Amino acid sequence: MDFIDVINSRRAVNFFDPDKDVSDETLRSIIETAAKVPSSFNLQPWSLIVLRGHEEKMRLQSLAWNQPKVSEAPVTLIILADRDGWKEGHQFVEKNFQEMIKAGSMSEDQRQWFEESRTSLYGENGEQQQAFACKNTGFFAMALMFAAKNLGLDTHPMDGFDHDAVRKEFNIPDNYWIPLLMAVGYFKEGMELAPPKWRKTVEEIIVKFH
Ligand SMILES: Cc1cc2nc3c(=O)[nH]c(=O)nc-3n(C[C@H](O)[C@H](O)[C@H](O)COP(=O)(O)O)c2cc1C
Repeated sequence: MDFIDVINSRRAVNFFDPDKDVSDETLRSIIETAAKVPSSFNLQPWSLIVLRGHEEKMRLQSLAWNQPKVSEAPVTLIILADRDGWKEGHQFVEKNFQEMIKAGSMSEDQRQWFEESRTSLYGENGEQQQAFACKNTGFFAMALMFAAKNLGLDTHPMDGFDHDAVRKEFNIPDNYWIPLLMAVGYFKEGMELAPPKWRKTVEEIIVKFH
């Protein structure tokens, strides 16, 4: 699909065909494509919990305003943003550093500089860490929706859930914030999609402060 067609046809879809499964291969391809998004220092502080079973999706649905799409979609994702994903000693911070050494873009004697850079940006308070985790994971989540659309699937991002209850129910450690849930599947034939929603104009988007 052309990029512009992906953008124009992606919608937050309410009706998923519960009988049309998303294969592991398709899901893997969507995740691999989405993982190409940029992130601060390439730290990639996102993770996914993949729910496929009816019982586990119903457990989530009961904590997500009982939105039927949570269980009707063949796959529902709990998207996780790691607020510790910048810290020294973190598995992926270390992997990132080693990969940069391998690629020749950093050397072992720059370790301290790398640590100080991350700490100066994210080390001061929880707000910085929340922003770090959620802004990077937001790009990833958006790319999941585009990657799915590109393969003919639809998605629905969801904020309507009890954050702390979902964290507890699925044993999610405290370092993760859950920026959103996402239903993924195929649109149910015969259902009607609501007309496209309004968008802010360019003039409404561009601002200036005096
Ligand atoms: C972060 C986020 C959270 C959302 N949460 C919900 C939700 O809980 N329930 C719902 O029905 N729609 C939810 N939506 C869908 C939006 O209402 C929808 O994307 C918006 O109205 C624009 O429609 P469109 O995506 O079809 O263009 C959410 C969208 C985003 C990006």
